[in-house]
Amino acid sequence: MKEVNKADVLLGLQWGDEGKGKIVDVLTPHYKVVARFQGGPNAGHTLVFEGKKYILHTIPSGIFHSGCVNVVGNGVVLDPFIINKELDQLNIPPDVLQESLFICGKAHLILPSHRLLDAALENKKGKLRIGSTLKGIGPTYTDKVARTGLRLADTATDNFIKKYEALKTEHLRLAESLGYSLSDLKLDSLTFEEYEQEWFRGLERLKSIPRVQSEVFINETLDKGARVLAEGAQGTLLDIDFGSYPYVTSSNTITAGACIGLGLAPSRIGEVFGVFKAYCTRVGGGPFPTELIGKDADHLRERGNEYGSTTGRPRRCGWLDLPALKYAVMINGVSRLIMTKADVLNQLDVIKVCTGYQIDGEEQNIFPLTLEQESLNPVYKELQGWNNSLDSVESFEQLPAALLDYVSLIEDYVQVPVDIISTGADRKQILIRKGAGILQRLAVV
Ligand code: GDP
Ligand code: IMO
Ligand code: MG
Repeated sequence: MKEVNKADVLLGLQWGDEGKGKIVDVLTPHYKVVARFQGGPNAGHTLVFEGKKYILHTIPSGIFHSGCVNVVGNGVVLDPFIINKELDQLNIPPDVLQESLFICGKAHLILPSHRLLDAALENKKGKLRIGSTLKGIGPTYTDKVARTGLRLADTATDNFIKKYEALKTEHLRLAESLGYSLSDLKLDSLTFEEYEQEWFRGLERLKSIPRVQSEVFINETLDKGARVLAEGAQGTLLDIDFGSYPYVTSSNTITAGACIGLGLAPSRIGEVFGVFKAYCTRVGGGPFPTELIGKDADHLRERGNEYGSTTGRPRRCGWLDLPALKYAVMINGVSRLIMTKADVLNQLDVIKVCTGYQIDGEEQNIFPLTLEQESLNPVYKELQGWNNSLDSVESFEQLPAALLDYVSLIEDYVQVPVDIISTGADRKQILIRKGAGILQRLAVV
């Protein structure tokens, strides 16, 4: 029997914004296909190269490499208004785009009224609001599961407008019952009607992008021996099943989500690259055991430029949480770790890392079912900082000893090797460990 060619998966192990976009961009030259499998424009993946910064919301992060095919899978939710704007900003010539971006017809559409409903539902929650990006993600996945949603492929059917209007009417009725109406809403500083017009314009553009059936395309690509990288959005702790529910997003952000969102059999998953920050951040509501308040948080936020790529909101910052990381490694079957933003800790004399929790006076190192217990207190180990810039470090092995100790502590705790360290936002600021498994996988040794 021929050996099965498998797809690799790259995803976030914390609460999102781990730097997935940058790492996908760095790894893309080793892949033929990069595919998004879940989430939608709630994602903001930042790529920096040649002095320019790009933020991608729906389009996979392989888009800047010629020869790479970028697939938006069946599990993604699409807002034509946002994709249209994204494409304008990327400014890729139409003939190149025709060869480099394919979208699955099974992907569900985020209607303008899904965004209205998202706002109405959050508004109703008051203090308990999730802190959603308000891109309509929750209501769109709700309609998908309720079997009332509209898919991209539906736009080709005769009664699409009729179905659109019926669903919109239903949404407006629900929003009104929550005390919300169209006039309450400005979407990207447009009225609902203006937004809707732009949405339909975007839909025309979306229709011109080549369609694929992601399950067929991805499996055939693998059958031909080409490499596929599945790009996650959000992070493991925002997963609808395994995250800090209800403060989560509405999709499965974990490795299993790549199977569902692309049509890949579990036996076709190869390496799983888990990306984590050298500390933790979270944007929006919900529990965050190692959260810092005050000057330490401000230091991380300013040094790390921790402001949302999608909403511009300041991100909450805290120390690295090892039980949470270990949990994420387990759920995803992570085989290689990638640590980003090591440089953000450069100026600290002391770095803390959470190794367990005190719950009701008892210490445990298992990530608990609920993080909201008042009696939950993180237990920290203190490490010496390296207090040094990493700008002139040319190899993983030359990193300061204190940083390598930090890496060893993480590896001992989670029992997975850290193969790559990112030391800045630019594509070039990357250090791959000599002899690391990831190098064999990418066949660059
Ligand atoms: P994603 O959603 O996981 O792709 O991450 P985001 O792009 O939302 O957030 C990561 C932020 O950190 C972006 O502003 C990146 O440009 C930046 N970034 C990525 N890696 C590094 C790094 O190693 N060091 C620093 N200082 N910034 C980084
Ligand atoms: P990337 O891919 C960080 C958070 C929101 C909110 C919760 C639910 O850039 O890592 P939603 O809009 O899905 O209803 O929001 O999830 N959230 C993210 N946080 N990075 C993201 O994506 C996120 N996508 C959603 O802040 O708390
Ligand atoms: Mg992001």
